[in-house]
Amino acid sequence: MTILEKEDIQGLLIRGHGNLSSASYLLYSFTDPAQAGNFLKEILPKITAATEKPEEQALQIAFTYEGMAFLNLPGPVLDSFCREFKEGMTEKQRQFILGDTGENAPHNWSWGENNLHFMLMVFGKDLEKLDRTLSEIKVLTDSCGIVMLHALPTGMLHGQKEHFGFRDDISRPLIWELLHKEPDEQAVTFPAGEFIMGYKNLYEEYAPSPTVPQALDKQDRLPYHPDNESLKDLGKNGTYLVFRQMEQKVHVFWQYMKAQSKDKISAIALASKMVGRWPDGSPLTLCPVQPDPNLSETNDFGFWQADKDGLKCPIGSHIRRTNPRDHLVTEKSQKDSTEMAAKHRMIRKGRPYGPPVTPELNPEDMLDSIADTQERGLHFICLVTDIRRQFEFVQNNWVNFHKFGGLENDADPIIGNHYQSESRKTDEFSIPAYPVRRKLDKLPNFTTIKGGAYFFLPGIRALQYIADHE
Ligand code: HEM
Repeated sequence: MTILEKEDIQGLLIRGHGNLSSASYLLYSFTDPAQAGNFLKEILPKITAATEKPEEQALQIAFTYEGMAFLNLPGPVLDSFCREFKEGMTEKQRQFILGDTGENAPHNWSWGENNLHFMLMVFGKDLEKLDRTLSEIKVLTDSCGIVMLHALPTGMLHGQKEHFGFRDDISRPLIWELLHKEPDEQAVTFPAGEFIMGYKNLYEEYAPSPTVPQALDKQDRLPYHPDNESLKDLGKNGTYLVFRQMEQKVHVFWQYMKAQSKDKISAIALASKMVGRWPDGSPLTLCPVQPDPNLSETNDFGFWQADKDGLKCPIGSHIRRTNPRDHLVTEKSQKDSTEMAAKHRMIRKGRPYGPPVTPELNPEDMLDSIADTQERGLHFICLVTDIRRQFEFVQNNWVNFHKFGGLENDADPIIGNHYQSESRKTDEFSIPAYPVRRKLDKLPNFTTIKGGAYFFLPGIRALQYIADHE
């Protein structure tokens, strides 16, 4: 089995730094290419590789296309990045693919790719450690003429929950080469190439990767591309990082549930139907009537046999759309569906931001909470080697598609863009039930996009090349 070159992989690809509870994502602009190169040489030894399990702090770095162009990477190198990354998240056509229209349109965002060159992700074991590291970074960036555009502090909430009060980070694709284990039937394990460039993916091909013509790697920093000896592999041990800052309107969410329900228990059940799991994480497919704490971390379920019609977990729920598992209704068989759904997975590494509505995020308490003016949400981050096949496909064909799985006017209930226009309606939520299904309408947007960008998270050798290419 292939061995992963962990010493060349940034740590975030392998672990979420969950033990480092304080973090900040810093968005920057370079002002001078030569100074930028000096900065990168200085910061390089501080970048956390996947070989370490840091106990105190961790640092990761990722670049936008604009940032790489500013660093004067040669034309053929820039051209070799994938189209989605080159065009950026806010490109006109892409807005439609991602559903970033109406109130989610980029002109309403607080930040985007414009002038954004790179991001530092700084993690600390506590706020004090984080602050100390942030001050050290400031001295370095200031001395290299680097301008900070935004600092996005981020944290962790009680019980690994997100702001609506649901347990998050349960379903994660695992990498075979890390587990030293071959694929399994449920498609929970994946070849590294789905998430790390330079390795084979589910098509048994090397994941598409940016390259450098051999003659341009003057210092011989990079490995050869496995499929083309005239090219060096700039992508090896790196990946693309998708970042979306998503505001969560927690009060609006729970007030909507309350208005549609006779009591608190049914309001919580309704919200759970929208997510596809109970607040404690247990999946509705396995325990449709009430949560089962013994199942709160399970991923061992499918939809085909247990819940073909969505009577337990609605077809349009968030987890069923973002990973339909063995039940894509348009597919021929359970096996075909599992294989197809597997080709659209992503490693999620996001963290919440903003203060929780209540400290423990119990839905019972949140149903009684009073509206405030604080902003809160999720810094959604996912890592993929193919932005189009993985993240954009899910966002376009499953999250926002109003006819997903035979539905008519439903986008994802919790993260979809809900609206009515002359040609379409996306603000309904259908709950299959016997003998008559229930249909809710006029769903407000429970989340809105506040910013976002596509980044390249390079391997350590690639970072060296980016820092001192000539
Ligand atoms: C504020 C925004 C979001 C919230 C509150 C949210 C919440 C959740 C929750 C509670 C779960 C269930 C826990 C788990 O399986 O880990 C989940 C699962 C998931 N979410 Fe989201 N999510 C958000 C945005 C997104 C976005 C933008 C995507 C991608 C387009 C996404 C993709 C997924 C995937 C792939 C799963 C796992 C499904 C499975 O394998 O069963 N989420 N999310």
